[in-house]
Amino acid sequence: MGSTALLKSSVREGDAIVSFDRVEKRFGEFVAIEDLSLDVRRGEFLTLLGPSGCGKTTTLRLINGFELPTRGTVAIDGQAVSDLPPFKRCVNTVFQSYALFPHLTVEENVAYGLVIKRLPRRDVESRVRDMLERVRLSDKAKRRPRDLSGGQMQRVALARALVNEPAVLLLDEPLGALDAKLRRSMQFELRRMHQDLKLTIVCVTHDQEEALTMSDRIAIMNSGELIQLGTPREVFERPTCRFVADFIGGCNFLAGSVDGAGVVKLTDGIAIKDGDSGPPRKVTIAVRPQNISLVSPEATPFTAIVRDVAYLGTMQRVALERGEVSLHADCPENYADIRPGGLVGLKFDPEHIALFEEG
Ligand SMILES: Nc1ncnc2c1ncn2[C@@H]1O[C@H](COP(=O)(O)OP(=O)(O)OP(=O)(O)O)[C@@H](O)[C@H]1O
Ligand SMILES: [Mg+2]
Repeated sequence: MGSTALLKSSVREGDAIVSFDRVEKRFGEFVAIEDLSLDVRRGEFLTLLGPSGCGKTTTLRLINGFELPTRGTVAIDGQAVSDLPPFKRCVNTVFQSYALFPHLTVEENVAYGLVIKRLPRRDVESRVRDMLERVRLSDKAKRRPRDLSGGQMQRVALARALVNEPAVLLLDEPLGALDAKLRRSMQFELRRMHQDLKLTIVCVTHDQEEALTMSDRIAIMNSGELIQLGTPREVFERPTCRFVADFIGGCNFLAGSVDGAGVVKLTDGIAIKDGDSGPPRKVTIAVRPQNISLVSPEATPFTAIVRDVAYLGTMQRVALERGEVSLHADCPENYADIRPGGLVGLKFDPEHIALFEEG
């Protein structure tokens, strides 16, 4: 506990509590994390978001000490931690599987870390009681994990980590095993606890909606690289590349170009926006499904064939085909007559398109 107290004392609000400086992690020849530089700020809820295998869990394991970098440094509270074994780092992890002790009761599970540290029994009891109240499980204290629901087990796992007062709480797909409804309510629960307890949280998910709901900032990863770091609004509204635009929110992509007069055109010459600065160049034109309106095919030369219409409750998703290119548009549910096989015109506000200059 001594090292934790020391680590905590020198920290100021808003400081980087965890810093990655040019970190690489290889497993043999395979590069799982490439040149990662990232600061986790004290008190923030940072989410690592990316597809399966992109290196999210490895990044958490570099923080909790279960893996060591093959290059670069990881620092916790300004102190390089390569020599610090996991149990000496003021960090606790909640795993997707929860990893509860099946033979211990809920309160014994939560007390475990404090008992190991040989805290006086009265302190252990009061901290466990307080924590069970916070996660709303006081009435389940004497139960064993097998007699709990998934959401309840998840809260026991959280309480067991939080009772140790970690400087950083690491959550690896914490809601992965829960059904959609419980997942949503736990997302708000996690946010509430983050605020109430003034925690620093690094959370891993591959669910973009979850990341948008819970996070102060999102770090989007792909193939071991950090692709973009920003607030939910920044990464959604100003994606810096095609991968981010598609991964967060979904996006349609069309090949096009910008001509010498700054007019943005599709490859077949249809102009969709003017006044773009910069030299003539090839671009990818990105537009989100909710930003496409379907109009009469007489109203615009930009047309497509309707392939399918799916009912999504408050709206309908329309699958469109334009030559070789497939597109999606999300429209109000009672939208005009859209039938598979029909021709429709496509309109969008030039404000709502993004241009990417990549392949
Ligand atoms: N101990 C290891 N030995 C070899 N390769 C590993 C090891 N641990 C992870 N990897 C590889 O590193 C890459 C990143 O793994 P990681 O577990 O960090 O992915 P992830 O983003 O958490 O994926 P998921 O969403 O599926 O959990 C994967 O290709 C994985 O196979
Ligand atoms: Mg993982």
